[in-house]
Amino acid sequence: MLFFSVLALVTLTVAVPHSKRATTFFNPNDGGGRMLTDATGGFGAADDLGEPLNVIISGTSSAAVLTDDGFLNYAQSLGFSFECLGLHLGGPQSANLGDGNGWVNQTVEYRQDYGNEEIGTCLESLIGGNHLRMFRQNGSSEDTGALFLAVSQEEDVADGHDIVANGYDIGRNALVASAIAVGGTNANGVSYSTTALNITGLLAAGAAGVNHDIATDGVTTLLTVTIL
Ligand SMILES: *[C@@H]1O[C@H](CO)[C@@H](O)[C@H](O)[C@H]1NC(C)=O
Ligand SMILES: *[C@@H]1O[C@H](CO)[C@@H](O)[C@H](O)[C@H]1NC(C)=O
Ligand SMILES: *[C@@H]1O[C@H](CO)[C@@H](O)[C@H](O)[C@H]1NC(C)=O
Repeated sequence: MLFFSVLALVTLTVAVPHSKRATTFFNPNDGGGRMLTDATGGFGAADDLGEPLNVIISGTSSAAVLTDDGFLNYAQSLGFSFECLGLHLGGPQSANLGDGNGWVNQTVEYRQDYGNEEIGTCLESLIGGNHLRMFRQNGSSEDTGALFLAVSQEEDVADGHDIVANGYDIGRNALVASAIAVGGTNANGVSYSTTALNITGLLAAGAAGVNHDIATDGVTTLLTVTIL
């Protein structure tokens, strides 16, 4: 009897979600990682090109936002959703966030949904639009829970679905503008308030190592998201 109560207690403890964390994020460069993904399908060869991780969702955000379900809902509040009919265009990219996980595949990829969470991203796949890949900083050495996003504005399918000129900065700015819109954002009954802080020095400005040779301004925007 005692045994079963103890078991029940343990299960309960494990099921409780993470409380709000104390750390915004850990700089991947300080842990052998980098602020560029590996877009070549490899796992971090020094000369592999990648996309800038140009937005970070702070580990100090409301804990639910940092879960897979919670992040999808937040992304939906910004006008993104899961890929068209669950189909992937192209292979996954990998990133090393310096957290002890080494190079890992992206967790999810979402696209601009043009106002329809179910099928709107099919339109994005055809006509292009904004797009993000998410990586979670949860390795055993730096378990901040922060989410690192590679955001980019894509061309339409006829143009090979590449990134538009200046598409990394454009994609980041568009996502951030939606996030900090006056009055906040909401999806499926959950309301969010988001603050933004620009950080430089995580990634050099320019096109060195950047896929498609598209230069960036080197700015990473840190978003702190609070569920209201
Ligand atoms: C990463 O994704 C690729 C393509 O889906 C897959 O072949 C590979 O096994 C994945 N690697 C890891 C470490 O999960
Ligand atoms: C860390 O995040 C990855 C990717 O989102 C997930 O698959 C994995 O289960 C997480 N690890 C832990 C220890 O929570
Ligand atoms: C961050 O930098 C971008 C690019 O310079 C700028 O457009 C944006 O307004 C800045 N955002 C904040 C919150 O400072």
